[in-house]
This record gives sequence, C-alpha cells and structure tokens, in this order.
Amino acid sequence: MRCESQTSQAEHEHDFLASVREGLRRQPKSIPPKYFYDTHGSHLFDLICTTPEYYPTRIEIGILERHGAEMAEMIGASCVLIELGSGSAIKTPLLLRHLSDDAVYVPIDICEPHLLHSTQRLQAMFPALTMQPLCTDYHRLPAHAFKRHAGRRQVVFFPGSTIGNCTPEGAIRLLQHAAEQVGPNGGLLIGVDCKKSPAVLNAAYNDAAGYTAAFNLNLLARMQRELGAQLDAEQFAHHAYYNEELGRIEMHLVSRCRQEIRLDRESFAFEAGETIHTENSYKYTAQEFQHLARSAGWHLQSTWRDGAGMFDVHYLSLSATEPLKLAR
Ligand code: AVJ
Repeated sequence: MRCESQTSQAEHEHDFLASVREGLRRQPKSIPPKYFYDTHGSHLFDLICTTPEYYPTRIEIGILERHGAEMAEMIGASCVLIELGSGSAIKTPLLLRHLSDDAVYVPIDICEPHLLHSTQRLQAMFPALTMQPLCTDYHRLPAHAFKRHAGRRQVVFFPGSTIGNCTPEGAIRLLQHAAEQVGPNGGLLIGVDCKKSPAVLNAAYNDAAGYTAAFNLNLLARMQRELGAQLDAEQFAHHAYYNEELGRIEMHLVSRCRQEIRLDRESFAFEAGETIHTENSYKYTAQEFQHLARSAGWHLQSTWRDGAGMFDVHYLSLSATEPLKLAR
C-alpha cells in the first residue's frame, strides 16, 4: 500500500512552526486543531471515542449500522467515496460493505502512519475495492483526486461532525470547495452533532478518564518535541466548555500562572488564567445545518438520526430534484 502525499514532512513541520508562532502572537492566542493529530494525538482521539461520555462516535456508528444500506443506495453503489479526515476509519466499513466492487475509496488524512494503517486494514476487509489514500490537510482538497474518476459520482464522506471544527463561514467555504471538486453529479454524506443540553456536551469534552485533557495537552508536548519549544506543560490545564451563545464547544489550554513560552528565540508571555484557544466544535440543529449547506450550494436529500436526536447524518446533492425525507 502506497500513500500519496501533498506535503512533505519538512513542509508540515514548517507549517506547524509558522502556525504556532502566528497563533501565539495573536490576541487572544490560538492554535488550529489540525495540529492535535500527530501519531500520539491520533491515538488519544481514538481513546476519546471509546469513553462513555463522548457519544458522537457511538451514536453515528449506530446510525450507519442501521441505515448504511439505504445510504449506499442513495449515493450510488459504484461511486467514488472521498473521506475527509479518515483517521482510523472505524465507521467506513459500515458504508463500504454496501458498495459494489468497482467503487473507489479515497481516504484523506493529515496523519500518514494512521492513514496507511487504516487503509491497509480496509483493503484487507474489502479486497475488490480500489483504495487511494492521500495524505493532506482536507482543506486543501487536490483537484486531481477528483478528476481521475470523472464520469462517476464522486461523494464526499465527512463523518464525525468534523465540520464542527470550522466556523460557520469556514464551513460554507469548505462545503463550497467540495461542491466545486465533486462536480454537478456529486454528493455529500456528512455527520453533524446536534445542539443539546450543555451538561451532556460538557461531559463529552471532559471525560473522566482524562483522554480529552491529554489530547489537548499533547499539543504542548508536540511543540516541545517537534519545535523545541521551551515551556512547562504542567503549568497549563485543559479547559473545555459549551458556549451556548455561539453554539460551540470551546477547548482551551489555560495558563495556571504568569509564565512564558519560548519558541525559536521569541518569547510569548501569559498572564495567569490566559488561554490558548485550541478548538471549536460547532453544534447544529438540522435546520441550521441545512441552511448553512444551502448557502454552499448543497440541497438536502435525506437525514438519518438516532432515536434520541443526538446526531444527524445528512445526504446532500447539488440539484434539488429528489424528494426530501427524514428517517429515524
Ligand atoms: C474530530 C473534530 C469531531 O470536535 O468532537 C473530540 C474532536 N476534540 N474531543 C470533536 C474532539 C475533543 C472532535 N472532532
């Protein structure tokens, strides 16, 4: 199994340094969440998904188990399925098992070891399918990944509510970009975490086992490992809370004291209580998401939802011809 790479390791490290430097100069300080996913961070994310508090993975798996066949029928069994941020791709077999042998699967992920490992696993499970892993940041969808299979329906599969990492404006831009890449006959199968009680949301990002805290703090360890940053990781704390007004979980690294981070001869001062904003995870009602997707040119075809209304999987296309329907 070979994996095509958009950016070299050196370029990626350069991006990381530039992003951290830029983010720490900013006020308030922030670092983009894509840097969580080094090998250790990707592993910690998998552990988060096994906790009782982090419901999205479990619930979305249930929806895919129940409705995967119907989804495959809608997207077309011999499609080209392009998964954004595929990671361990534990949900993907629930869809792949309903596709036909001539389908093509293109997993895209930023973490190369993780991508290779999971694609190998899937290829062994589905030997007939063509698999073309691509290591890149999914914000930079390369046109050739789509053009190669022109003439067949290209469907972007974006599970896990990863779209929640974008601001609503950023989400519109990403979905617009996806629309341009897949062409007029294309589709979008996307998982979206719903708005719900703050208690449930807060628990999901503050698991008792401490995996989410470790995942957040690993960003500092990664800065030390890869960038030689001088900092005291013990003097930062994980903080995640639901910002109800903005409809998003915010994750921060809070400085426990007045201190500084040194990076590449530059020093970044922190007041006690000052934070680095490391992630947003937006939550949407079905109506809000439909509206957002509509601004990006997508028309809702179908929504599959769990019985408790925790999580939605939407299928959207670029033409509004087929009938709307909501399945439970
Ligand atoms: C991978 C972006 C969907 O926002 O829920 C989980 C990442 N961060 N716990 C999410 C995450 C903390 C996750 N996404």
